[in-house]
Amino acid sequence: MVLTREENERLTRVGPGTPAGELLRRYWHPIAIARELTPQQPTRFVRLLGEDLVLFRDQAGRVGLLAHRCAHRGASLVYGRVEARGLACAYHGWLYDTAGNILETPPERNEAIIRHVKQRAYPVQQFLGLYWAYLGPPPAPIIPPYDVWVRKDGRRRIIVRGRVDCNWFQIMENSVDPDHLQILHQEYIGRGKQPVNTTRGFIDDVASTDFYLVSYGIMKKRVYKNGVVDEHPLIFPNMLRQAGGIQIRVPIDDTHTWHVEIRFEPTPDGSSVEDADPPVQYNRPHKEPPEALYPEACYTMHDVYAQDHMAWETQGPIADRTQEHLSYSDRGIHLLRKLMKEQIERVQQGLDPMGVIRDPHHPMIDTNLLGEAQGTRGNSHPAGIAGNAVPGDR
Ligand code: FES
Ligand SMILES: [Fe+2]
Repeated sequence: MVLTREENERLTRVGPGTPAGELLRRYWHPIAIARELTPQQPTRFVRLLGEDLVLFRDQAGRVGLLAHRCAHRGASLVYGRVEARGLACAYHGWLYDTAGNILETPPERNEAIIRHVKQRAYPVQQFLGLYWAYLGPPPAPIIPPYDVWVRKDGRRRIIVRGRVDCNWFQIMENSVDPDHLQILHQEYIGRGKQPVNTTRGFIDDVASTDFYLVSYGIMKKRVYKNGVVDEHPLIFPNMLRQAGGIQIRVPIDDTHTWHVEIRFEPTPDGSSVEDADPPVQYNRPHKEPPEALYPEACYTMHDVYAQDHMAWETQGPIADRTQEHLSYSDRGIHLLRKLMKEQIERVQQGLDPMGVIRDPHHPMIDTNLLGEAQGTRGNSHPAGIAGNAVPGDR
């Protein structure tokens, strides 16, 4: 079923007032690595969901997220000076607190402006070494307690995979496209074994794939002919839980996405550990030159992520779904689009969409972290696919 141009826009656009943009504004999004905001570099430009913002930490340690242009005459607050009470615009010193109140309007004190003008401001919280922002209507929900984020019996690390130069939704469609694993990533799952031919890769090792809805997204299930079952979920709307990690695809704007992953490694003996500030790893770019767009950019294809990166970006800045030809193996994509459409409608009716959680005591959400790859112990499986061995979007 081909989409119309309007349907394509509806699924993909992220700006304020757009259907998908309003849906995405119901969730907290990571916007920066917390340790990157330092006394030497206390402000930072952030673009999230098409909104240009400044993230800052004032000298009292409060963190704020404001519209980036000063309410006075529009200079960038990224160049502002942080003070004990907030952020002062570098140009004429208008001073803002983290709630967007204007505290000073030098050189005069303009009470009318101080009373009536407010800078757009959004709540920020620090969680797992990241700053997270909420751009939706109050009250903000909680950050959902997914197992990868809240389990105590292991350590986490942050992997910054960087900016992907395309719309967020085609990255998410890849997460419900299990059959690409055995074809696109055939060099990395073969472990030295040669496929019968490169057209089919290792796809004939797979007996069946299936999809079913869970309370927080779509579980995809892949059953291999040797009995191995791989079952891991897309977490609605913009995450993939795979190989012990949650990959978050943060929409920067319509045509750029920040890709960051939080990975969890359990302690061997199940003991609890403190890891409030996980280490951060920065991945090397997947294309040359790193800022170039296809076709000027040349993708390295050096690992699973690099291959995914190629597939995501070469579909275009926003994949044109009016031109595609879906087949039986694309039914996960069809399911995701249907789910997205339904959840957009929920938001339009004033209801919370899937995955929005408001109860601060909500129990941990099990994403099948341990059951992901049943039967993968040992090397008996044909394509050498082990649950935790090949991280990527698969
Ligand atoms: S533009 Fe910011 S104080 Fe004048
Ligand atoms: Fe992939």
